Amino acid sequence: MMTKLNNKVALITGGTSGIGKATAIDFIENGASVIITGRFQNTIDETINELGEKAKGIVSDAGKMADLLELGDKVKLVSSQIDILYVNAGFGKYAAIEQIDENHFDEQFNVIVKGTLFTVQQILPLMKEGGAIILNTSIVTEIGMQNSSVYSAAKAAVQSFVKTFASELAAKKIRINAVSPGPIATNYFDRSNLTAEQIQGIAGAVLPQVPLARFGQPFEVAKAITFLASEDASFMHGTEIFVDGGFPKIK
Ligand SMILES: NC(=O)c1ccc[n+]([C@@H]2O[C@H](COP(=O)([O-])OP(=O)(O)OC[C@H]3O[C@@H](n4cnc5c(N)ncnc54)[C@H](OP(=O)(O)O)[C@@H]3O)[C@@H](O)[C@H]2O)c1
Repeated sequence: MMTKLNNKVALITGGTSGIGKATAIDFIENGASVIITGRFQNTIDETINELGEKAKGIVSDAGKMADLLELGDKVKLVSSQIDILYVNAGFGKYAAIEQIDENHFDEQFNVIVKGTLFTVQQILPLMKEGGAIILNTSIVTEIGMQNSSVYSAAKAAVQSFVKTFASELAAKKIRINAVSPGPIATNYFDRSNLTAEQIQGIAGAVLPQVPLARFGQPFEVAKAITFLASEDASFMHGTEIFVDGGFPKIK
């Protein structure tokens, strides 16, 4: 039995699938209790059943301001303290600059940018010295990927939050870092606006650029998040870990 996160309480936004769910499993294996969020009661219930008695769930849409402002109160009904916050809820939509409309912009900025900022704001009062926050960014911020200007810009805003929040939270002794996944095999692409053919096309274009020549698995990202959440990362603050199979970055 691992004890890296023993007696810690973690909140994971978007914990019903992919990287968020794998992180919930890894946190629990390392001794933590977890609270996950998602948009739908049925998927929350299914996930909680799978995760077992150390998991609880809250329905909360990270793209809706009313839900974000209620999140702290809803969490308090489950736990008076949060030790670890992993802000993971998100999705990506793809469009060339010529095709972008206001909805495409708003839906991604609402969940990724507004959602991340107000989740951190609402949960901070429940966190104490020694707490750890991890935000989810993406390799797309480093590469200039076609058709992803809005998603990439939203994740770049999250990268920026890591730096600013790191300076603001230092006095509270709460650490904040980010995990930046490369291509990971989750429901992410199926939930985008891409057709199966377009997904194949992206996979075909992306894979040759990954030195490890495969998609990563959600558990491989979860391990880095558990590290950042734990005391093993006690001197890591304001930085970003790439879990991307060695994807080359354009600098
Ligand atoms: N997969 C990749 O290649 C990759 C690469 C870089 C970064 N990322 C990022 O990693 C994060 C997790 O994605 P994933 O790949 O694990 O995809 P996924 O399997 O589709 O999981 C996404 C999770 O986010 C939740 N979610 C989506 N919109 C939400 C909202 N408005 N409010 C609350 N929860 C919401 C979903 O829950 P419900 O559907 O139940 O609401 C689900 O639990 C995202 O931020 C994504 O942008 C993914």
